[in-house]
Amino acid sequence: MAHWTSYLNVLPPKVILWGGTGQAKVVRPIIEFYGAKVVAVFDDTKGLPSPFPDIPIYEGQAQFLNWRAKNPGADIGFCIAIGNPHGRVRLRLHDWLEQEQGLSPITIAHQTAFIAQSATIGVGTQLMAGAIVGEEARIGRQCIVNTKASADHECVLEDGVELAPGATLCGIVHVKTNAWICAGATVLPRMSIGEDAIVGAGAVVNRSVNASIKVVGVPARPLLT
Ligand SMILES: CC(C)(COP(=O)(O)OP(=O)(O)OC[C@H]1O[C@@H](n2cnc3c(N)ncnc32)[C@H](O)[C@@H]1OP(=O)(O)O)[C@@H](O)C(=O)NCCC(=O)NCCS
Repeated sequence: MAHWTSYLNVLPPKVILWGGTGQAKVVRPIIEFYGAKVVAVFDDTKGLPSPFPDIPIYEGQAQFLNWRAKNPGADIGFCIAIGNPHGRVRLRLHDWLEQEQGLSPITIAHQTAFIAQSATIGVGTQLMAGAIVGEEARIGRQCIVNTKASADHECVLEDGVELAPGATLCGIVHVKTNAWICAGATVLPRMSIGEDAIVGAGAVVNRSVNASIKVVGVPARPLLT
C-alpha cells in the first residue's frame, strides 16, 4: 500500500459530501484549505436543509444518480460526513461511490493533526483538528479520529471506527470494525474493543470489551438494558 503522505490531503478539484449535518460543517474547511471545492451535499434524510447556504443539497441515491448524469468525469472526490455508530454505512457508501459511480475517495487531516511517519492511514479516513496518531498506529478505511482524539503507539483501528472528540487510546489498543469510542473516554493499554461495541462518553476501559457491547462508567462496565 502507498504511504499515506502520497494521498492524504491530495484532493481532486471538486468534492461532494455525503451527509449534511455537523460533520459536513467540520470537513468542508479542511477540504477547502487543501484547494478543492465542495460542489454538492447528499443526504438520505428527507427535507434536510443544506448545511451551507451556497451549496445545494440532494436527497438520497436517486437524486445522486440524476446529479451524476449531469456531472460525469473521474475527477470528482467524495467525503462521507456521517459519524458513528454509522461506520458500516460509510464503508458501504464508499464502495458504491468508488466502484460503481467512479468517484474518488478523499483522505483528509486538519492542518493541526499529528500523524507519526511510521503510522498507516486508510483511504477515506478523516482526522480532525488536534487529532493524534502515534508511532506504528494503523488506522483503517473510513475511520474518523475526531477533534483532539488520540490513538497512541501501535494502536489498531479497523475499518469504520470512530474516536469521538477527546477520546484517548493508550498504546497497543485494538479497536475492531465499526466500534465507537465516545467523547472523552479513555482506553487503557493493550485493551481490545470488539466489533460494533460502544464505549460511552467519559468511560475508563480497564477490561477488554466484547463485540456489540455498550460499556459506560469508571471503570467501564456493560450498560444493562
Ligand atoms: C453510551 C451512549 C451511546 C449510550 O446511549 P443510550 O444507549 O441511548 O443510553 P441512554 O441515554 O438510554 O442511557 C441509559 C443509561 O445509561 C446511563 N448512561 C448513558 N451514557 C452514559 C455514560 N456515558 N456514562 C455513564 N452513564 C451513562 C444513563 O444515565 C442511563 O442510566 P439510567 O437508566 O440510570 O438513567 C451515550 O450515552 C453516550 O455516551 N454518548 C456519547 C456520544 C458522543 O460521544 N458523541 C460524540 C459525537 S461527535
